[in-house]
Amino acid sequence: MDIDLYERIWLWAATGLIAVFLGAIILTAGAEAIEPPSHVETIDPTTISTHPEFSKPTITTQPDGTIVVPVVTAMFAFSPDPIEIPANVPVKFRITSQDVIHGFEIAGTNANAMAIPGYVSQFTITFPKSGQYAIVCNEFCGLMHHMMVGHLTVK
Ligand code: CUA
Repeated sequence: MDIDLYERIWLWAATGLIAVFLGAIILTAGAEAIEPPSHVETIDPTTISTHPEFSKPTITTQPDGTIVVPVVTAMFAFSPDPIEIPANVPVKFRITSQDVIHGFEIAGTNANAMAIPGYVSQFTITFPKSGQYAIVCNEFCGLMHHMMVGHLTVK
């Protein structure tokens, strides 16, 4: 089969681009632990005010030493705030929303989840050293979206 030179160039260029994009996905998934959400848990957002875990979100320690942090997002704040956790312990964040979609990003880390009404987002992260972190909402959620900032202290 005779393929024109320019067509061959574009074929290889397109193949190369696909390889680069695929490589970027594999690299970030492997090296940076950037993964699609895999935890599916539903919750009725209208029952949050009476929900045993989320009505008064309280940081607890499980028997295996894991810290569990339930977080409720609502226009335009995170609850609890501030969040205080120890370093070098696995911390499981469980996040849901009371109203609209919010973001839950711990600035400067790869901890980043969506808070979606009706669902509980969950991820586990260990902070190697103490420090102060800002929790930012990275989904536009209304007029005061830019003011929606929480505080995380690792001790
Ligand atoms: Cu909450 Cu933007």
